[in-house]
Amino acid sequence: MLVFNQKSELTAFLESQTIEFKSVGFVPTMGALHSGHLSLIQKSLENNDLTVVSIFVNPTQFNNNDDLKKYPRTLESDIEKIKKTNNKVIIYAPSVDDIYNNSVESASFNFDGIENQMEGKHRPGHFDGVGTIVKKLFQIVNPTNAYFGKKDFQQLQIVKKMVAKEKLIVKIIGCEILREQNGLAMSSRNERLSTETREKASLIFQFLRKSKVLFQKKSAQEVSKFVIESFKNINKFDLEYFEICDEEKLLPCLKKNKLKKYRAFIAVNVEGIRLIDNISLTK
Ligand code: PAF
Repeated sequence: MLVFNQKSELTAFLESQTIEFKSVGFVPTMGALHSGHLSLIQKSLENNDLTVVSIFVNPTQFNNNDDLKKYPRTLESDIEKIKKTNNKVIIYAPSVDDIYNNSVESASFNFDGIENQMEGKHRPGHFDGVGTIVKKLFQIVNPTNAYFGKKDFQQLQIVKKMVAKEKLIVKIIGCEILREQNGLAMSSRNERLSTETREKASLIFQFLRKSKVLFQKKSAQEVSKFVIESFKNINKFDLEYFEICDEEKLLPCLKKNKLKKYRAFIAVNVEGIRLIDNISLTK
């Protein structure tokens, strides 16, 4: 199992392989791997000659220092999980220095306004941090295909936008959300929930499903009002936002347009942990 900590070694290795291997699949992660990540790796393995997985908790995308400090770091068990999936996967687990040298800073991006909605509104600077790290990783790995989960749907659209604007040659592939048995979207953050809350957190997906049913007959405003009001009565679960937006520009749906695809997006704080999820509202 190859694990590289330095970009110079990884790029030298990848360059030595390009004659034999034509396509490189890439799965960027922040570690604390769960079945959702492993399914992205599986997809990459099925469709590429080589698969690279990065494991790096990127400091510039955290707008809250406490969240960065508490983010789970489980490199040894992550490597074991990948090894069990396939021991030919190449792992890149760099230090902050290897990525940022001495300047741990984000570049500033213009994502045509997508960055100002939802997560961007509530986590200032987050998407500049995501854009910065994803661009750096793409430059190092030079992938043919890169895999992102739809749980972070806004991030997926941001990455697609960056690739188009910067004319990067990589295909971005969005993969379906994997869920725990009770419907909670898989996330590295779930590990930090108490058993009781992790079970109760199934209500997030239940509300998303309910909103999908309601949206067939009601306006986005009516559906949002229902969800926002309902959360006021739920102990411990603090609704940060619930929004119905079009999939392309992520603008709030003011009036339904048959030509657009819509999604409901939600962010909830519980036990000091922030959970996000979304659902397609298109039948
Ligand atoms: O989705 C994530 O885990 C991160 O935002 C990513 C894409 C690995 C960038 O740090």
